[in-house]
Amino acid sequence: MATPQRIQLESRIGAAVRGEFPIFESATYLNSCSQGALSHRVREAVEGWLAGWDENGAEWDFWVERNETFRSSIAALLHARADDVAVTTSVSQGVSALVSALPLESGRNRIVISEYEFPTVGQIAHAQELRGAEVLHVTPGEDGSIGAERFAEAIDERTALVCCTTLSYRSGHRHDVTAIAELAHEAGALVLADSYQACGAVELDVRSLGADAITGGTVKYLLGTAGLGFMWVRPEVHEALVPTQTGWFADEDIFAMSIADYSPHASARRFDSGTPPVPALYAGVAGLSIVGDAGVPAIETHVRGLVDRMLDGLEELGATVATPRDATRRGPLVCIHSTDVDALVAALAADSIVASSREDKLRVALHLYNVEEDVDRLLDALARHRALLA
Ligand SMILES: Cc1ncc(COP(=O)(O)O)c(C=O)c1O
Repeated sequence: MATPQRIQLESRIGAAVRGEFPIFESATYLNSCSQGALSHRVREAVEGWLAGWDENGAEWDFWVERNETFRSSIAALLHARADDVAVTTSVSQGVSALVSALPLESGRNRIVISEYEFPTVGQIAHAQELRGAEVLHVTPGEDGSIGAERFAEAIDERTALVCCTTLSYRSGHRHDVTAIAELAHEAGALVLADSYQACGAVELDVRSLGADAITGGTVKYLLGTAGLGFMWVRPEVHEALVPTQTGWFADEDIFAMSIADYSPHASARRFDSGTPPVPALYAGVAGLSIVGDAGVPAIETHVRGLVDRMLDGLEELGATVATPRDATRRGPLVCIHSTDVDALVAALAADSIVASSREDKLRVALHLYNVEEDVDRLLDALARHRALLA
């Protein structure tokens, strides 16, 4: 017999949680890879922020409290310590701070990036060419995956940083971050895993992932809004890295108010920046609490079942799927080749199905609020629009 706790966990996923997300009253929402659906809980949190502003004016204490609650919620999500988590305004801000601390002049001036990095990571890497970096790209093999052996060809004692996104935003491939990190560490390089497309839907544990820095944000599977991100940095690493891109919230004492020196915080707070994104913090803490109530392992299992169902259906349709079939090499995102993806996204929108595209691929993302009927509705629609599938 199921324990009461088990019943509670199950009730926070799928059909039981949908009522929390009004968009499902009018649409089949399959676009969490772009933005998570808005919940009543997040709306109320943002309204609470506005009400507090009206009633009390500057709510500094609440800002600080939300900032620290967000930091510790991310720590819980990643099985980490709050002191090892930076609160950032975006992945871009955190990664820029991290990269600004790399001593590229030391003979280690190479940055290795996978072809599946989000543009911001590639652009930040290439920006370092202005201070002597060399950027190497690791490309996919014939099957579309980028195995650790391909990274091995690019990594050596000149490598400062290896960027291997946990899950590709444009193909749905999942990197073997642990294996890549092992290779990088043997060569003395650091590893950054941009996990934006994984966090909230895929269990991430800093103790086993192997990366030295793990970053993401709240817009997608964490169910918050724009302007807020995080970066976990391994303690042995952040102690040795001194960012030159910084701000007063990264100082060891923000109330020192000194313009005469730079004293980075001893913890990963040294990768924070300026005034935190307050409204996004209210939304972010609320969104994370929905993910936390469900539990990421349970979300991952739920999503895997939905993706399996979708992949079976796509196979029957004879669709060309870019995302691997192997469940260990994918997550919540399925990418399907199309002959005219803009037309396909528009046709689905006309059927009240919200999906997105990258290059020639339709992107379909599943999350805790999706159910089998969503998958079936999509498959029915794709059967009707079969001519738009490659
Ligand atoms: C993998 C990945 N990284 C980063 C970002 C966004 O980065 P930022 O928070 O700097 O806007 C996205 C957003 O789409 C993403 O999918």
